[in-house]
Amino acid sequence: MVLPKLTIGNMVADVPIVQGGMGVRVSLSSLAAAVANAGGIGTISSIGLGDIKASETEYERISREALIREIRKAKSMTNGHLAVNIMGVLSNADDLVRTAVAEGIGMVVYGAGLPTKLPEIAGDANVNLVPIVSSARVAELIMRMWDKRYDRTVDGFILEGPMAGGHLGFSLDQLDAIENHSLDLILPQILDVVKPYEVKYGRSIPIITAGGIYDGQDIARMLSFGAAGVQMGSRFVCTDECGVSQEFKQAYLDAKEDDIVIIKSPVGMPGRAIRNKFLIRVEGPEKQRIKCRYRCLTACKVASAKYCIAEALVKSYEGDVDNGLIFCGKNAYRIDKIVSVKTLMDELIAGVRSAEIPELKAA
Ligand SMILES: Cc1cc2nc3c(=O)[nH]c(=O)nc-3n(C[C@H](O)[C@H](O)[C@H](O)COP(=O)(O)O)c2cc1C
Repeated sequence: MVLPKLTIGNMVADVPIVQGGMGVRVSLSSLAAAVANAGGIGTISSIGLGDIKASETEYERISREALIREIRKAKSMTNGHLAVNIMGVLSNADDLVRTAVAEGIGMVVYGAGLPTKLPEIAGDANVNLVPIVSSARVAELIMRMWDKRYDRTVDGFILEGPMAGGHLGFSLDQLDAIENHSLDLILPQILDVVKPYEVKYGRSIPIITAGGIYDGQDIARMLSFGAAGVQMGSRFVCTDECGVSQEFKQAYLDAKEDDIVIIKSPVGMPGRAIRNKFLIRVEGPEKQRIKCRYRCLTACKVASAKYCIAEALVKSYEGDVDNGLIFCGKNAYRIDKIVSVKTLMDELIAGVRSAEIPELKAA
């Protein structure tokens, strides 16, 4: 298959691969810049950045300044395409959007919450606004809302299916029967709902699929079904440039298929993670005493939450994996080595080029 470029608004990436934003601190400047240098789009996660102690009193300012540092660092390492991932459930989401835009980021990827006011918060800047959705229904809702309120449409959608890592936009029941909610099923639906908006605004609305995409063959398959590109997370964790601890990466390498499970996150959404000592402990009847340090999440019910998710994610990032939460995608168990981003991207590109896509040939 010929490797297509990925166009999102005014951005044209040579390689149709977006490295997904991964919090807390999993995808920072070094990973994002390496992906951008390899021709893809690198995404900085804006979640839980900065000195933890200082954040206890000045969460918003510390987060903002740390995001500015990450964006500037990434920009100093690449001239390629960079994005910032922002979760709508964050108490400082609006501030992070304004900060990323003020720093001249090319694309804001917005998930875990409806981006009802995103165009207004981002302002008139030349930034591409790309919501993450898990259904055609929500995509339609966002486009209808933006059309009515702002007379504009999205620059693209990340369509995240049920095999992704981190928080998931599906109910526990849906995740029990993921074959009924696969990307293969949702992609044609979303391609249909964007059509009238593409006509109205005279531009294409690229759909970037995410979740469980592992190799070049998977990418080629998605492209042949109409995706403009793919977003991948787990595979980028096991790269030299990903800043998580060695222990975090080793947990991926050690994980068996059955170790990867669905959890109920304090964020109020299900998530996918590696079943480790930490998860076994928090699944038990005992509840940890939580000292909420900075109210990072609007949705977190501190009184009933079994643990502080920010603390659990920082612990695994730092290497204390027995006391931390390790998010990963459903296919993470297939990863068997740590490589450079360049090696991984070259392997994926070669895989797309050599992929056999019978459906495409038949079309
Ligand atoms: C460790 C980890 C952390 C993640 N954190 C976030 C996040 O903070 N925000 C977000 O929108 N998606 C997050 N994701 C989802 C990824 O951006 C990506 O869409 C997903 O991992 C794709 O599935 P894959 O891992 O099977 O490639 C996370 C995924 C992982 C593996």
